[in-house]
Amino acid sequence: MIRNTPETYGSLSKILHWVMALIVIGLLGVGIWMTGLERNDPIRPAVYGLHKSFGVLALALGVIRVAWALWSRSPALPGALQRWEVLASKASAAVLYLLMLVIPFSGWVMSSLKGYPVKFFGLFTLPELAGKDEVLAETPHTAHWVLGYIMIAVLAAHVAGAIKHRYLDDAPEADVLARMLPGRGKV
Ligand code: HEM
Ligand code: HEM
Repeated sequence: MIRNTPETYGSLSKILHWVMALIVIGLLGVGIWMTGLERNDPIRPAVYGLHKSFGVLALALGVIRVAWALWSRSPALPGALQRWEVLASKASAAVLYLLMLVIPFSGWVMSSLKGYPVKFFGLFTLPELAGKDEVLAETPHTAHWVLGYIMIAVLAAHVAGAIKHRYLDDAPEADVLARMLPGRGKV
């Protein structure tokens, strides 16, 4: 089943979720690590290039994902969840959808303003979004790392929620992870 049903996520939502989870968690880790590299480190340009290429891939997948989430509605949250948990789950999903678009976009704007090209795995170069302006570049630069750290905090809560509902809640129907895992969605 490609589409989501009222009870579980369909295959497209699952594939997009886990492929993007890998890419985004990798980008957050590599992004923080690479900014600590010496300016003359020989691997720095390649690492920055890969970060930008995977970041552009995340932006493209994010656009598809948000369109798909609007088109194929998410399954309803189990009734076993408390009201605050439903609110927290919906709010964090909305913030994650927003951040998966705004963070890569701010990276693209920052690179344009700093005068660096944004190449997609050496296949083609993305259009410049603005002319070079080092002073203006500081705004998307700050946004990129501040929002990156906010995303790490929201993701920590997101993963903690999934673990809590699977292993700590008494009600088996509260296990929302089951409906995001491959397979039929029930364990
Ligand atoms: C979902 C996608 C992305 C995530 C989660 C992400 C995350 C990060 C993080 C956490 C950092 C480290 C910030 C710091 O500690 O200063 C970083 C740095 C950086 N990112 Fe991204 N990024 C993404 C996409 C992009 C894209 C699309 C571009 C450019 C086209 C980009 C360009 C950069 C650059 C140039 C830096 C280094 C900035 C510096 O040297 O201070 N990023 N990114
Ligand atoms: C190991 C890491 C992760 C785990 C265990 C996890 C777990 C889950 C689970 C169980 C759901 C379904 C919740 C429900 O049934 O309503 C979900 C939904 C979601 N996850 Fe994750 N997730 C992880 C990483 C990520 C990452 C890195 C992102 C961001 C790029 C992300 C973004 C989302 C979003 C936006 C939804 C809402 C889907 C919707 O209903 O529209 N997740 N996640």
